[in-house]
Order: sequence, then structure tokens, then C-alpha cells
Amino acid sequence: MIVNVHKFARWKQEGQAIAMLTAWDYISAQMVDAAGVDMVLVGDSMAMTVMGHETTLPLTLDEIIYHAKMVRRGIKNTLVIVDLPFLTYQVSRAAAMLAAGRVLRETGAQAVKMEGGYPAMAETIAAVVQAGVPVMGHVGLTPQSVYQVGNFRKQGKSAEAGERILNEAIALEKAGVFAIVLEHIPSDLAQKISRALTVPTIGIGAGPHCDGQVFITSDLLGLSEWQPPFATPYVNLRSQGIEAAKQFCEDVRSHQFGQSP
Ligand code: KIV
Repeated sequence: MIVNVHKFARWKQEGQAIAMLTAWDYISAQMVDAAGVDMVLVGDSMAMTVMGHETTLPLTLDEIIYHAKMVRRGIKNTLVIVDLPFLTYQVSRAAAMLAAGRVLRETGAQAVKMEGGYPAMAETIAAVVQAGVPVMGHVGLTPQSVYQVGNFRKQGKSAEAGERILNEAIALEKAGVFAIVLEHIPSDLAQKISRALTVPTIGIGAGPHCDGQVFITSDLLGLSEWQPPFATPYVNLRSQGIEAAKQFCEDVRSHQFGQSP
């Protein structure tokens, strides 16, 4: 399926909001595809939500490619974007191009996402874009830098920090990204950035003024034990799943399971 990623800038002009959800395997991909989502992200948040790591850092390129292949098989209609994992693209432009190339060639996804908008990263992203790979940017809270930042808290709260994030977003637009994730920043800053750019912003914990929104699907479904404060689940499948599993155990232990209906 050929997706023109530039259509999203037109959507922004027309005021059409963009809905993005994450997926990590075939079944989650089929579900979000059937829901008619506009973009699917194979996010490195899966290192925490699906694989049980404390941060996103341990996820490898081979692992995300393995998951992205499953996701791609479950998607019929939607753009698939894959996160490049920690230190697969920060090292050099050549490393970034090779990592992005592997993702597109081996998984069938159409775009990659890379964190950071500092000058060297904007240059790396420009090189990947020039090599023909659509790139989504990501500024604000960038979880791959968690050890440098020291926490997963809201970013851009001071005027100076807000200005830095705005400048990073502008640099990424100049580098040629087709959209930018704004993660966990004040709503008024997200609005200012969204107004300053022609490419769409996709918010997560960044208020209602972004051009689109992304939700981590395991949070949307209430599957995880813990959700970030800005991610109120739409259903609570974890407690429903626990109840269903308890009922199954009871039925087996009381010799009720397997009786013909
Ligand atoms: O990895 C991820 O799921 C993400 C979202 C938070 C945008 O990057």
C-alpha cells in the first residue's frame, strides 16, 4: 500500500484532526486498523508496556523489526510508523540511514520516528529524509533520554525550556519531517508550536491544541497496571481479563468447564 505522508499537512490546513494509536503485534494491529485509525505507531514504549522493561532503552533494532513485521501483517489501510530504538540512529547519519533502511525493507512499514531536535539530530534526520525515508519527529519528553533528564515528567515548563522545544520543532520541520510528536509539554506551548509549523503536531500529554493525538493502545485499553496521568483508559481490560481468568479457574476447579452448553 502506497501512503502519501504529505497528505497530513493538507489535513492540518483543512482542520482535519489525526488519530494515531500504537500496536505491537498482529492482533493489536488488526484491532486499531479495523477502528479506522489514521496512523499506527510501532512505538518503543512497547519495551515498557509489552516487554516489562523499566525504560525504552533495552529495546533493540532486531526486536522492533520482529514486532513491526507482525503489526504490518495486521494492517490493511493505514500508515505504519516504526520507532528507531535508542542508539541505532544517534551514533551517525550512516547508522540512522541503515537502521531506517532495515525497518522499511524488512517490515513493509512506510516511515520511522526519531527522538530529539537538537542541531546534530536535525541534520541526521535531514539526511534520512533525503535518502527517501519519511520521518516523524518527536520533541518534549523524549523517553530515550530518560537517564539524562532524570525522570518522565512534563518538559518545557520554563520560558527558556519552552523556547528550546519550539526551536527544535522548527528545526525538524526544516529537516523535512512529515509530522512531529509533542510529548508531555504544557498545552499553551503545544498550541504555540502547532501554530508555528505547517507539518502536523501529534500530541500525547500536550493538551487539545495539537493537530492530532496519539494514545498508547495498552493504556487506551487499560491493560497496564499503571498509566501516565494524562492517559485515562477508555476501558479497563486488565480488570476484566483478571475476572475472566478467575472465572475460568473456578469453572475448571468445580468441574464446570467443558460441559456441553
Ligand atoms: O513509543 C511510543 O509509544 C511513543 C509515543 C509515546 C508517541 O513514542
